[in-house]
Amino acid sequence: MRYFVIVGHKAVTTGDFRLDDIAGGAGRLDILVRCVNSAFFLSHEIRRDTELFLVLQGGCDAPKTVRFAGDELRYLNPDERSTSSLIRNALLKKVDNKEIRSSPGIYVSRSSFENVIAALSERGKLIYLKEDGTDVRDCILPQDPVFVISDNTDLTEEEELFLLRHDPEKISVGPFSLHADHCMILVHNEIDRTSS
Ligand SMILES: C[S@@+](CC[C@H](N)C(=O)[O-])C[C@H]1O[C@@H](n2cnc3c(N)ncnc32)[C@H](O)[C@@H]1O
Repeated sequence: MRYFVIVGHKAVTTGDFRLDDIAGGAGRLDILVRCVNSAFFLSHEIRRDTELFLVLQGGCDAPKTVRFAGDELRYLNPDERSTSSLIRNALLKKVDNKEIRSSPGIYVSRSSFENVIAALSERGKLIYLKEDGTDVRDCILPQDPVFVISDNTDLTEEEELFLLRHDPEKISVGPFSLHADHCMILVHNEIDRTSS
């Protein structure tokens, strides 16, 4: 499996945003929607071996995590508007202590960044994607990597400290600071080249 955790520091946690305002009123949800695209879309297929965790930390009902399970996904299309709508549907669900299913392959919970990292550290090796990490081409990526990526701002000091306590590998995908969704394509590609 390939796991991705994306932190949306200001991304909304309630479903009352407008689909034509995902980059503004929805707290840069557009970044996370593009990450959905990069996580799953091949030209004519969906990557079924991938699971994506969007950790939403904005608004009055934070935190919430929307989880996309590639092996169950249906109704996912490449356009940002329909993906935003799937996320909005998930955020409109009433959610208490337990994760609930919003639509096929899409789940919502009240999990925080710390909850998600702690749970995934049991499933695979954490990899902190960071500009000053070791070059990905000098590493052998582990089985079941769990990539942790921030949005348009870096992880906060507290988030980074928590992550570092779980002993992640810190890996860079190249010499420039890139958008989160572009980093995802690059690491998918690195794995694809060695595993197919
Ligand atoms: C747009 S960047 C975050 C902001 C950026 N660090 C800055 O100061 O402007 C989004 C995220 O992508 C990841 N990232 C960006 N460039 C990277 C690189 N060259 N190697 C590894 N990860 C990278 C990091 O997780 C980063 O937090």
